[in-house]
Amino acid sequence: MGNCWFKGNPYFNRVSSNATKSESPKLQSPSERAEKDDSLLPSNPKEVEELRKDSARKNPLIAFTFEELKSITKNFRQDSVLGGGGFGRVYKGYITNDLRQGLAVEEPLRVAVKVHDGDNSYQGHREWLAEVIFLGQLSHPNLVKLVGYCCEHDHRVLVYEFMPLGCVESHLFSRVMLPLPWSTRMKIALGAARGLAFLHEAERPVIYRDFKTSNILLDEEYNAKLSDFGLAKDGPVGDKSHVSTRIMGTYGYAAPEYIMTGHLTAMSDVYSYGVVLLELLTGRKSLDRSRPVREQTLADWAFPLLTHRKKVLGIVDPRLAADDYPVKAVHKTAMLAYHCLSKNPKARPLMRDIVATLEPLQQQPVELVGENTTNTGVGGGGS
Ligand SMILES: Nc1ncnc2c1ncn2[C@@H]1O[C@H](COP(=O)(O)OP(=O)(O)O)[C@@H](O)[C@H]1O
Ligand SMILES: [Mg+2]
Repeated sequence: MGNCWFKGNPYFNRVSSNATKSESPKLQSPSERAEKDDSLLPSNPKEVEELRKDSARKNPLIAFTFEELKSITKNFRQDSVLGGGGFGRVYKGYITNDLRQGLAVEEPLRVAVKVHDGDNSYQGHREWLAEVIFLGQLSHPNLVKLVGYCCEHDHRVLVYEFMPLGCVESHLFSRVMLPLPWSTRMKIALGAARGLAFLHEAERPVIYRDFKTSNILLDEEYNAKLSDFGLAKDGPVGDKSHVSTRIMGTYGYAAPEYIMTGHLTAMSDVYSYGVVLLELLTGRKSLDRSRPVREQTLADWAFPLLTHRKKVLGIVDPRLAADDYPVKAVHKTAMLAYHCLSKNPKARPLMRDIVATLEPLQQQPVELVGENTTNTGVGGGGS
């Protein structure tokens, strides 16, 4: 079962200087900012619903009490922990109609309950609120569904639809699970690309900012859904080319220009998407300190190899047998990753174009390695 909770692993380090979701104290001191903005953050369901008033009718959310959450999770049982990370743990639970009078759920509804307790920092509260606002207004087959939330005293909790196969990271890097077949990797790549394309082209565009394999969850048919919207940001509006933010994200996934300048654009997500594509292709982690120094950052190591047809075949996940994947699709995927990882953000493809490139790569008949190593069909850079 998916469990992406590898606490303390440097893989989870944020771009900020420590392993939690705290941020780089670059622009102003966090305490100063906290004091200024804390008063604006809602502290009860009424205030949350007031903030959500534009989306509340279309996307109603249940405001749970903490007592109800205890009953849903059987008092936050240790053996139902699904994962965890920056701000707390995620528990599996069930909602039944007897939880509250008038609650119309298809019962028993399996849910995942993310508890932010234990760290009610300003940043924790902000990330909780970002999820309520973004996931509470967006609805798409490739985004995880938010069922409700809890905002009572110091408790900040999110309740999502349960994703039975957990996160992509746990499948890709597990030592015990069977390797994901090529066709499943392509299905995940397409689903996740559709999720990001939807965000980038929403009426009010959204930049996801933390695209990585632990934030892509899977339903029972390996449909990919993006979750963890804590770092999501409204895209630039009007004639603005970017939004300026404090630098947040995850080492190994964040775009170099964003780390350097704090200027965030949809193209930062496209870079992270390229890193995930590489992880699917190679079975290597975006950042792996156990490898020789020049191989530790996957994007830096793989980038120069992606345009060489023979070298690309040499970096495919060694757990896939040579006749398990279509060579043409591997080359096209490698070229797609190459374009996503361009140092120049403007040279990266739009998510919509990535979706169009991946659609024909689904369910292609398997060709033997070496049978056809010509023409990747994806523009630029081939050798
Ligand atoms: N809806 C869900 N269904 C199943 N597992 C989930 C769900 N939401 C989160 N998880 C598990 O918990 C982990 C952490 O959740 P996430 O929302 O990414 O929190 P964090 O902010 O700690 O990164 C995920 O990687 C996944 O393994
Ligand atoms: Mg996460």
